[in-house]
Formats: sequence, C-alpha cells, structure tokens
Amino acid sequence: MIEIKNLTYIYDTQQSPALENINLSIQPGEYVAIIGPNGGGKTTLIRQLNALLTPTQGEVWIDGLSTGNVKNHKEIRRLVGMIFQNPDNQIVGMTVEEDVAFGPGNLGLSPAEIQRRVDSALAAVGLSELGKRAPHALSGGQKQRLALAGLLAMDPKIIVLDEPTAALDTSGQTEVFRQIEKLHQQGLTIIFITQDMEEAARADRVLVLHQGRLVADDHPAQVLTRVEWLLSLGLAPPRLVQLMCRLRESGFDIGTDVFDVERACQQISTLVTGQRQMLTDRKPREV
Ligand SMILES: Nc1ncnc2c1ncn2[C@@H]1O[C@H](COP(=O)(O)OP(=O)(O)OP(=O)(O)O)[C@@H](O)[C@H]1O
Ligand SMILES: [Mg+2]
Repeated sequence: MIEIKNLTYIYDTQQSPALENINLSIQPGEYVAIIGPNGGGKTTLIRQLNALLTPTQGEVWIDGLSTGNVKNHKEIRRLVGMIFQNPDNQIVGMTVEEDVAFGPGNLGLSPAEIQRRVDSALAAVGLSELGKRAPHALSGGQKQRLALAGLLAMDPKIIVLDEPTAALDTSGQTEVFRQIEKLHQQGLTIIFITQDMEEAARADRVLVLHQGRLVADDHPAQVLTRVEWLLSLGLAPPRLVQLMCRLRESGFDIGTDVFDVERACQQISTLVTGQRQMLTDRKPREV
C-alpha cells in the first residue's frame, strides 16, 4: 500500500535534512502511530504520503503510484485522506452536508451519487442528524468527525492524521479515537501522529522519528516500554509504564513491560495477594 525507499527530504540546504534515508512499507489495513520529539520529522513524513511534499532523494509509492510523478498526484490525494490538528482550518462548506459534498463535487460525479456519498459518510461518523447545521457551530470533536466524513466521501484507502486530537478536550479525544478505530476495523489503513503515548499504545505498530531518522519501527509493547531510551529522546513513557517502574523502584517484584490496564491490574493484584498471603502466614507477633 505504501512503499518508502531511501527517502531524504531537505527544506533548506543550510539545515540538516528534515528526513534522512527513511525506508518503510505499510500494508493495507495497518494501524500505525508515529511519535517522536518536536522537529523530529513526523509532519514532513506524512506530507510525503499525499504528495504535499515530494522526495529530495528516494521514492514514495502509494498503491503503485510514485509521488515523484505529478500526473499521479490527483489520484494519490484521493487515495490518501489527510486530517490536521486544527479542525477549524479544514472547513469549506456553509453547512455540514455542503462541507462533505465539497470533495466528491470535484470528482465530476452525478448529484445523486454525491448525495449518496454525503449521507453514507455522515452516517459513518454519526453526524447524520446535524447535516443542516453550520460547521462552526459544532464542537471540536464533531468538527474532526466532519473532517473525517469529508475524507470518507472521497472513498480513500488510507487516512493520515497529524495530531488529530491535540486541540480537543478529553471527551473530544475519546470521540475522535472511537471513530478512527471504527474506520480501522472496517479495513482502512490508518496512520496517525500523536504526542500522547496512551494513544500510540492503541496502534498495532509504532514508528519513532528522531532528527529525521526512523529510529524504531515495532509493536507498541516493544517500543513504549523502553523507558530509559524514550526518556533519552525526550519522550515520556505511557503513564502505566511509569507506574510499573515506580512500583519496581520501590522494591516490588513487578514487570515494567506492561501498558494495558488489564495486565497491569493482574500484575498488581497478584502482588497484593502475595503480600497478603505472606502476612497471614506469619505468626501474629511477627506481623
Ligand atoms: N516549511 C519549512 N521550512 C523549513 N524547515 C522546516 C519547515 N517545516 C519544518 N521544517 C523543519 O523540518 C524539521 C522537521 O519538522 P516537522 O514539522 O516535520 O517535525 P515534527 O516531528 O512534525 O515536529 P512537531 O512535533 O513539532 O510537530 C524541523 O527541523 C523543522 O524546523
Ligand atoms: Mg508536526
């Protein structure tokens, strides 16, 4: 689906490359998080995926189409939908329905087909009831769902999101992620940038970009539990991993490679049961 070969990107020859020799392939239906410190190259990388930027050196292929060929850009931008951090910058219509109709309206489709796509996209993100509302009167989470509907109406294969929840409150974050996960379950390839390690932990694969280089590409369990390494990059490990580390530092015999709540609960309750057993086994005076 996505094939990146020896990709280097230079904004300014006076500066070091924003991306340096990236090699990566992403299969259809994957759910990928990109993390890394500020200026690491995350946004630059995803802008290569819908040809907003094209390689200084190397190649980016989307579904067999090279971004190096300008003739492919229109189709690549239909295949790869992009969502940005600020939902307000993505609104183009006077009503929710008009906003979603904008993209398919540019594909030369019949009015009936456009209406079908608008209805289906709004239903997919749970905004059917708000079709006549002005987009500016939506909440932040609803605006991001509207942006997703606008993409879905283009029938993309890949959705790329640059910190889609950074400008939202907690309920907006949950709302948007629920939607993204639903689209992933329906088979879309999802790639998202996040600063939030809990969000990254939910992906199937985590890429770490540091100073323009891809320094890790693995399952979240392998990447997000490398506490010292994450800290050395200026990244905070997920809160659960931090908790397990604290418990270990305080002398508890507990694994620190845990970042899902269920496993953490299991480990902690095993620990508590063990401690209780030790206390009951001792003679009352010892206790
Ligand atoms: N338009 C630009 N012109 C020149 N340099 C740029 C431009 N955009 C980004 N850069 C530089 O390229 C490097 C990578 O930036 P990029 O925005 O891709 O990082 P990022 O990982 O997305 O950072 P953040 O977490 O802050 O969003 C940085 O050194 C940045 O200063
Ligand atoms: Mg960025």
